[in-house]
Amino acid sequence: MQRCSSDRDFSAYNAAQQARPVRLLARRAVELAAESTRTDGSGTAVELGCGIGVEARFLAENGLTVHTVDADASVERAMAALSADLPVHHRTTDLAQLRELPPADLILSCATLPFVQQPAFDALWSTMRYSLLPRGVLAVDLFGDHDDWADTDGTYLSRSALEALFDGLEIIELTEEERDGRSFDGRKHWHTFRVIARRP
Ligand SMILES: C[S@@+](CC[C@H](N)C(=O)[O-])C[C@H]1O[C@@H](n2cnc3c(N)ncnc32)[C@H](O)[C@@H]1O
Repeated sequence: MQRCSSDRDFSAYNAAQQARPVRLLARRAVELAAESTRTDGSGTAVELGCGIGVEARFLAENGLTVHTVDADASVERAMAALSADLPVHHRTTDLAQLRELPPADLILSCATLPFVQQPAFDALWSTMRYSLLPRGVLAVDLFGDHDDWADTDGTYLSRSALEALFDGLEIIELTEEERDGRSFDGRKHWHTFRVIARRP
């Protein structure tokens, strides 16, 4: 098992994602955002840790202007191709360095935020909360403290710490799961939270 985030080979992971279906978290988030965003269907989305752009494409095809961030430079070519066709604006940045995000109707992050170390995670979470517009939807995967990777250098949360992150937001769906399974690079015990919340 890798002991720190910098050991993880996200470029190999991302290269293998091209043909997979859009994640349920993104589908559900778009449904909810459509209920609460502008009447003309337009809106702004942010995706943190976009990988090869599967979810970003889906968001843009559903009428959103999408701002994507990922540290993996190997996805730049795919993201540039996506930007040529759809309103997708990509930047290659470490989320730990991110200080600003555009005002957003939807913030999505699939399987990424746990790889940001604390206290950078706390600063990033504040930036996300600040950029979320009233009625905006926040849809994220987070990992729990029973996860096999919880002793590595990312952010792995107890249930109470997780709930505290959403203070002041309306939690629409919170799914906590523990299971033995596989990661991209081997067997693993997963402890995950899938959360969709809305700013009042
Ligand atoms: C497990 S992949 C998930 C990718 C995609 N969201 C998906 O669901 O398939 C994690 C993604 O987060 C990116 N990532 C991890 N740590 C990051 C960081 N500190 N800053 C920016 N991106 C990061 C990786 O490059 C990778 O694309």
